[in-house]
Amino acid sequence: MFINSDSEANDKSADPISPELLPRTSAVIDSGELSIGGVMVSEMVQNFGTPLFIYDEEHLRQNIAEAKASFPGGTAYASKAFLCKAMAELISEYGVNIDVSSMGEMYIALHSGIPAGNIVLHGNNKSLDEINFAVRNGIKIIVDSFDEINNLESLLFDAKLKCRALIRVTPGVEAHTHEFIKTGHEDSKFGFPLGEDMATLAIERLRSIPGVDLLGLHNHIGSQIFELQPYAEAMAVVAPMVQKYDFSELCVGGGLGVAYMADEHAPSISQWADLVMQAAQDVGIAKDVSITSEPGRSIVAQAAITCYRVGTIKRVPQVRTYLAVDGGMSDNPRPVLYGSGYEVFLPSDIRAERQARVRVVGKHCESGDILVANATVPDSVKVGDIIATPVTGAYGYSMASHYNRLQRPAVVFVRDNDARLVCRRESLEDLLRFDV
Ligand SMILES: Cc1ncc(COP(=O)(O)O)c(C=O)c1O
Repeated sequence: MFINSDSEANDKSADPISPELLPRTSAVIDSGELSIGGVMVSEMVQNFGTPLFIYDEEHLRQNIAEAKASFPGGTAYASKAFLCKAMAELISEYGVNIDVSSMGEMYIALHSGIPAGNIVLHGNNKSLDEINFAVRNGIKIIVDSFDEINNLESLLFDAKLKCRALIRVTPGVEAHTHEFIKTGHEDSKFGFPLGEDMATLAIERLRSIPGVDLLGLHNHIGSQIFELQPYAEAMAVVAPMVQKYDFSELCVGGGLGVAYMADEHAPSISQWADLVMQAAQDVGIAKDVSITSEPGRSIVAQAAITCYRVGTIKRVPQVRTYLAVDGGMSDNPRPVLYGSGYEVFLPSDIRAERQARVRVVGKHCESGDILVANATVPDSVKVGDIIATPVTGAYGYSMASHYNRLQRPAVVFVRDNDARLVCRRESLEDLLRFDV
């Protein structure tokens, strides 16, 4: 066994990986080896290399369908969580809307067949090009600042165009989550605070602009939220304004949390929707107002695992054991950004007890390049083994970078015994594509 001084891992962490953290079509054969979507993980690793994102397509489909059914007023998938052509095509297939925050996300959504009318554009600093593009293509805009209103006004006036819009407000509700992913409080770069008359002013201005069809309000109180009560609190705060202006839509944003660790428990998408709809009913807006949502993480996070190959194991006696893999903060910056925790397991033996305490690190030139600060892994782990982190479907690939000029990993969708490559691994030539 590897010995280290790290006492933070609890007793339960020695148990085999919890099936609750694995994609839904995960199965295990006699040897203890993991398959997803009917394909052995080892086979996918052999065919596509490491690091490798493996998405369970059936899991994605079930979550999209659940979100669509749970919010009859409409759901927009928050594409920042994970976007590529194949993902956007799935969203399109289910007729669900998509939330984008940049020209790049708009471009991918449109080029994947999502109708412009099903796209909503976010952003606290939309460029003139982005606003212009959205307006000319009939993309709905979530208005975020007075400068944006000025830009919108001059554009609509000059070109005699029309645009559907919501106003993003910050209801002053604190969600219990990491500081960097709280967005509903007033000290935020997003939206108009409700408390300072700024929202009222923004609404009045937008309503006075010919060509703007102001449908309603939008609020997003944060991300990775496990306690649902703040959604009801936010609903109670924004409802009077929805009623005052006779709005037809209120979007509650996204933010539903997911379990990354065995001791975490998150509500389901439908439980979240039930609470939100009940809250809408309690404040008297459920009948006349479309209550819409924008889930990202809760749709994609648990659908994927990331596989890495162990390259070195460094034992520092009485201190710690470092297990280094062939990826790191460039394919999953969440641990560095938010101190997020993950579990680790061996896809070759998912029933194995995990008694060895290690720190899983990447291959980047940073001491802080940590993937799992306090991991437990089977004693048997050795150089050359494949290890995996579950629940990596959200904000991993989408936040991936080229730091140290690592090539971004491949992404595979697996379903019905078929693993299809949806994003190829970047090549060395790709790294020179932008140099002139
Ligand atoms: C406006 C907005 N909507 C939706 C989301 C999606 O949040 P999540 O992935 O936590 O569901 C975000 C995430 O930052 C957001 O900013």
